[in-house]
Amino acid sequence: MRLLAATPILLAIAACGDDVRNSQSEPVADQLTAIAPIRFDVVSDDPNQHGERLSAVLGCIGCHKPDLTGEDWSDPELGVLWTANLTLSAAAFSEHELTVMIAGGKRPDRALIDMPSYLFSEIHPDDLAALASYLKTLSAKGTQHPDPTIGPKLAEDIANGKFEDSVQQVAEMKNKAPPDLGPEHAFARLILRATCAECHGMDLQGGTEPMMDAPPPPTLRILAAYSAEDFSTLMRTGKPIGDRELRVMDGVSRGRYSRFTDSEIKALYDYLAEFARSSP
Ligand code: HEC
Ligand code: HEC
Repeated sequence: MRLLAATPILLAIAACGDDVRNSQSEPVADQLTAIAPIRFDVVSDDPNQHGERLSAVLGCIGCHKPDLTGEDWSDPELGVLWTANLTLSAAAFSEHELTVMIAGGKRPDRALIDMPSYLFSEIHPDDLAALASYLKTLSAKGTQHPDPTIGPKLAEDIANGKFEDSVQQVAEMKNKAPPDLGPEHAFARLILRATCAECHGMDLQGGTEPMMDAPPPPTLRILAAYSAEDFSTLMRTGKPIGDRELRVMDGVSRGRYSRFTDSEIKALYDYLAEFARSSP
């Protein structure tokens, strides 16, 4: 992960993915069961509109920039790395190839680096197809970015077995998911795995590293203090309970989670309230 990424939010995302991967604590996530057949809410008959909503909720617009033309994450120690210009990728690859890159981390010619495909590996095939179909509607903009290079620090990490590419991450995280709280919570579990787990961890117990000038992502047991209405306000506006301002979660909520449906927010709240009651 690019620990010296150019912008705060990207650094935040990169650092937290790193945290998930290198976490010292034993993952307590249960085996993944009955997640794959579930879809995100489909609010439009048009798959491209569905794909566009998913590109916001799933954070594609964060790392690849709002217009999806990509961003420079290069770092002298780690090497050259750009988040891809997806408007050009969409033209260069078939829909099938795009879904394999998104959910499998694999481009036809090589494994991707730092693309968090492990989050998207259990997403329903129809949702993945909608994402790929939406990407295909984008008109080509901007320039083609260079392929990654391996800087000295990254080479060291590879030699020490400390680095995993996106294909290896998918394999490692494949059977991991947030705790299974029963079939009635399977929908929320899918959403948590594909979004919140990126920073709050697969076990939802939070991270240990501060993210920029924000504290580490807390355990989602923090929802014990939230009413359903408070939680909805957080997701829609980034305003937490109490007279406080958040630093990372506010932008994440406004940019991504304001696009959740009411039923997705309700499912998340019901799961997280139960999680707060049941977990130690
Ligand atoms: C945490 C940051 C992050 C998020 C979130 C993210 N990506 Fe990526 N993505 C990357 C990086 C970094 C690369 C470049 C990898 C490389 O070149 O090895 C990449 C590469 C890709 C590629 C390969 C394109 C090519 O031409 O090589 C596709 C396709 C892609 N991402 C689609 C998506 C979609 C769709 C989403 C949302 C579902 C998404 N990404 C979310 C960081 C991210
Ligand atoms: C890009 C990283 C990131 C993602 C993705 C993310 N969070 Fe957070 N979250 C944070 C950080 C960092 C904090 C610490 C507070 C801050 O931002 O200042 C936080 C704080 C929170 C808090 C505590 C708010 C308070 O009262 O202090 C809640 C609740 C929360 N997140 C819920 C979620 C849920 C639910 C999801 C998924 C729908 C999610 N987060 C996804 C990074 C993230």
